[in-house]
Amino acid sequence: MRYAVLSDVHANLEALRAVLDDCRGEVDAVLCLGDLVGYGADPIPCVELLARDAAALVAGNHEHGVTGRLSLGWFNRFARAAAQWTAERLDDDHRAYLGSLPLTAVVADATLVHASPDRPGQWEYLTSAEDGFRAFAAFPTRLCFVGHSHQPGYWSLGSAGRRRRMGAVDLALENGRRYLVNVGSVGQPRDRDPRACYAIWDAEARRIAMRRVSYDVAAAQGKIIAAGLPRFLADRLRSGT
Ligand SMILES: [Fe+2]
Repeated sequence: MRYAVLSDVHANLEALRAVLDDCRGEVDAVLCLGDLVGYGADPIPCVELLARDAAALVAGNHEHGVTGRLSLGWFNRFARAAAQWTAERLDDDHRAYLGSLPLTAVVADATLVHASPDRPGQWEYLTSAEDGFRAFAAFPTRLCFVGHSHQPGYWSLGSAGRRRRMGAVDLALENGRRYLVNVGSVGQPRDRDPRACYAIWDAEARRIAMRRVSYDVAAAQGKIIAAGLPRFLADRLRSGT
């Protein structure tokens, strides 16, 4: 099986469509690690596309924010403004759907989770090398895919030692090693590369390839500004920060 692993779409329909087009015909299933909504201007089309196309989805902190499960006081002012704007546009069906997403899922030998696999509802960021290595005790599978920081990279543990690489780097899965992989963000990259980021995981070939996909950033920015969302949310798409 080959899987596209997507995270942090953040209501950016242009980026999501570009990614789904990019992997069409190459993967057997799409997996989504949460934060479908928030920041961007197309929450409903993004939720509907992923509800239809994704074989497994887990909730992000933005799903919990817009459905009242996480206090909006948790968010910074831009995220809070976007969460309020999004919550006003969801109908009961979308709210119920987003509220029903689990915090974790297991597909083959991979755990899917938005933030840390250790207490996933606490929404902790895995940023430092130590953050990631500590989290290995919290998932039982060989692999764990995460999002949340919008920073691609991986941690790996094995008898030959620890490895930590930042960035959208490809990876050949070795026998006897476990991996924690951040797949980056489809709709709001923050690693100074504005292209959408996601991963293709080939379970048989035991490879994870990171992909970058150009999309119509200006169209996504125009919708954010027209919607009256904070201009900063449009500006950052151009710089990938
Ligand atoms: Fe996010």
